[in-house]
Order: sequence, then structure tokens, then C-alpha cells
Amino acid sequence: MTLPPLSAPEKQALVQAARLVREKAYAPYSRFLVGAAVLDEHGRIHAGCNVENAAYPEGLCAEAGALGAMVANGGRRARAVVVVGTGGTWITPCGGCRQKLREFCDGDTPIFSANEHELGPTYTLQQLLPESFGPEHLRKP
Ligand code: THU
Repeated sequence: MTLPPLSAPEKQALVQAARLVREKAYAPYSRFLVGAAVLDEHGRIHAGCNVENAAYPEGLCAEAGALGAMVANGGRRARAVVVVGTGGTWITPCGGCRQKLREFCDGDTPIFSANEHELGPTYTLQQLLPESFGPEHLRKP
């Protein structure tokens, strides 16, 4: 499926959604709030924040929440993703989230890193997870 390129207003709305949802993060253990937003193939934005747990490994990353919201609302492809961390640094999705994104992104899907105030570097999924395993590997030849 060929998806249209991202417009400037869409990008701005995506960053804004990630920043807003970041403020709702439940991160009492790390105090590291993360917000993520995904633009789907219908032009809709889905947001998620990290949700930690007293049993630490059971915490949920922001990207996983955003992807879950997208799927629950009928979205199946991500046209762009934004991740916003804490403390002014740029963050990129963790390893597990890169694989989760791999399921719904193309290799050239942009993944924007932002902080509370500025937009940082842009990566593609292919840059973040080269030589990756994906759904096509499970298809019979
Ligand atoms: N975190 C995310 O939500 N996404 C990432 O890609 C990196 C890490 C969260 C997990 C945990 O709640 C906190 O940030 C500190 O690791």
C-alpha cells in the first residue's frame, strides 16, 4: 500500500499529540515520562504514554500504547510516529518497540524524536531496525 507523504500540519499535530499524552504518563518509578503518537493510513492520530507497574517488567511503553490504540480503532498502517521523552534529550524507541513498530510501518516510515519543546532527529524504521524480521517472513512462498 502506498501511503501519502506527511504534510507539515499533520506532523505538527502528531508532535502536539505526543507531547500532550506524555503529561498523562504513569511513571512513578522511573519518573521518565514518555508520549508517543502514530498517524494511521486514514489520517487519524493515536496516542499512548508509558504505564509503569510495581512489578517493574510489566510496565508498558508509550509506543506500545499508541499502536494498541491505533489497532483498536481500526488502523493498520503507521504513516509516521513521534516519540517524546523527558529532560530535553532525544529518545528513540526501545528495542522491543522497534519490533512492534516494524509490524505496522514500512522501512521508510519516519520516526521523529522530539522533546518537550523541540523537534530532534528523524529516523526511518529501517535505520532503527535494519535486517529485521517481519510478517512477510511468515508468508508461504
Ligand atoms: N519508555 C518508553 O515508553 N518508550 C521507549 O521507547 C523507551 C522507554 C519508558 C519505559 C519506562 O516506563 C520509562 O520509559 C523508563 O525506561
